[in-house]
Amino acid sequence: MEIEKSFYSVVVVLIIVLVISVGATIPAKSDGFVYGDPPDYSKSIIIEAFFDPICPDSRASWPPLKQALHYYSSSSSSVSLILHPFALPYHDNSFVACRALHIVNKLNASATYPMLELFFQHQEKFYNQPTRDMSRTSVIDHIVMLAEKAVGNSLLSAVESGFSDRQTDLATRVSFKYGCSRGVYGTPFFFVNGFLLPDAGDAIDYKGWKSIIDPLIAD
Ligand SMILES: *[C@@H]1O[C@H](CO)[C@@H](O)[C@H](O)[C@H]1NC(C)=O
Repeated sequence: MEIEKSFYSVVVVLIIVLVISVGATIPAKSDGFVYGDPPDYSKSIIIEAFFDPICPDSRASWPPLKQALHYYSSSSSSVSLILHPFALPYHDNSFVACRALHIVNKLNASATYPMLELFFQHQEKFYNQPTRDMSRTSVIDHIVMLAEKAVGNSLLSAVESGFSDRQTDLATRVSFKYGCSRGVYGTPFFFVNGFLLPDAGDAIDYKGWKSIIDPLIAD
């Protein structure tokens, strides 16, 4: 009896160790989609944004952030953005939307942000209530149709088959786990040079971004 008990304990411990080590698998490439030119880590101010493509607050925060990035890109100071998709569990279609970003990014990296903007533009169609009676396949069909505008007609079937590619599923999980490992629990969350900005979950307007970045450049 005692031997049996300890045998089961060992099995349980082994399973737990296995699950933890699989969960912590290090990806071959660090997570995130770079906006524009890749950052120069020795001198760029690096903004990391965690966005859910189906989140209204992420949508609201994108135009002022984009405006700020364009403002600084035309000056001599270098400000870079790395965007991490983060699927909030209470948005039913977020995981597939984040997966669509990974699929599109793999096919044509320059189409990633156009794809994100398409989600923002058509976000209401993917909310919980309007998709309540839709099948997952039907939601994915809608996403594929949307992706056509970002990647073009020739890659349409590649986008479609991307949803059956295990690698894109795993990449989306990595994004989620990465966010969790940084303490992200909502969207949008912003980190500047690795530090979390206060008021996480709220959009920051253009003036807000200027007031955050200008003092860093003055140094
Ligand atoms: C990649 O996507 C961008 C943005 O949609 C587009 O302008 C470009 O032509 C695409 N490149 C290819 C090779 O399809």
